[in-house]
Amino acid sequence: MKISKLAEGPDHTWYVLGRDPDKSDSVIDTNEYVICGKEEAFLLDPGGTEIFPQVVSTVSRIVPVERIRHFLCSHQDPDIFSSLPLWMGLCPQAKIYLSWIWSGFVAHYGHEYVDQFVKVQDAGMRVVMERKEFQLIPAHYLHSSGNFHLFDAELKILFTGDVGAALLPDGHDALYVKDFEAHIPLMEGFHRRWMPSNQARDHWLARVRQLDIRYLCPQHGCILEGDQVGKFLDWFGTLELGGALV
Ligand SMILES: [Fe+2]
Ligand SMILES: [Fe+2]
Repeated sequence: MKISKLAEGPDHTWYVLGRDPDKSDSVIDTNEYVICGKEEAFLLDPGGTEIFPQVVSTVSRIVPVERIRHFLCSHQDPDIFSSLPLWMGLCPQAKIYLSWIWSGFVAHYGHEYVDQFVKVQDAGMRVVMERKEFQLIPAHYLHSSGNFHLFDAELKILFTGDVGAALLPDGHDALYVKDFEAHIPLMEGFHRRWMPSNQARDHWLARVRQLDIRYLCPQHGCILEGDQVGKFLDWFGTLELGGALV
């Protein structure tokens, strides 16, 4: 898998992993994000069982995996954290932050780890790693009915799960958007079909427009940076969502 250092502060560093060339074509490509502090690490949407060997070997090039003390499970999908029991075998002390509505469902991946679940209430919460603070931002119905994004105010990074996702064609292995206009067709179908609610989208837009965001980091596709973030928010605001009724 590719590794890219996304941003670095005095006490913590973000990395993005993705584009595994050995992944089966039948498995949707995912991005995994690692936040490394001095002693602890935080893994955002670690991915499915299918890609666990590649993710764990790639993460271990950045940080010893036993230092991972925090996992975000942004929502319940298998591409988010069906690898839960495998990771918890390596990092049994780690906390798993997930929406309270999905606790009993995600427990199907490994009920013996439910004591490590932090059941996040709908309004979100603050998560502290070492002395660093992150905000879990509500993003319900985008696309899951219990869904959280993670914001790092210091490095101005918003992890957005499936929002901002793109379905990339074969051979497209860039981790960052180069040309926003050219990237729109790769995002459009995904958002129209997987995002069900204009009302939820507008609610989320009103909230995140108050944040100072330099990097918008989706779980599929490419990272948006700088003025691409505002362009994305404007574009997303114009889409008609939830139109797949037949
Ligand atoms: Fe999803
Ligand atoms: Fe996803």
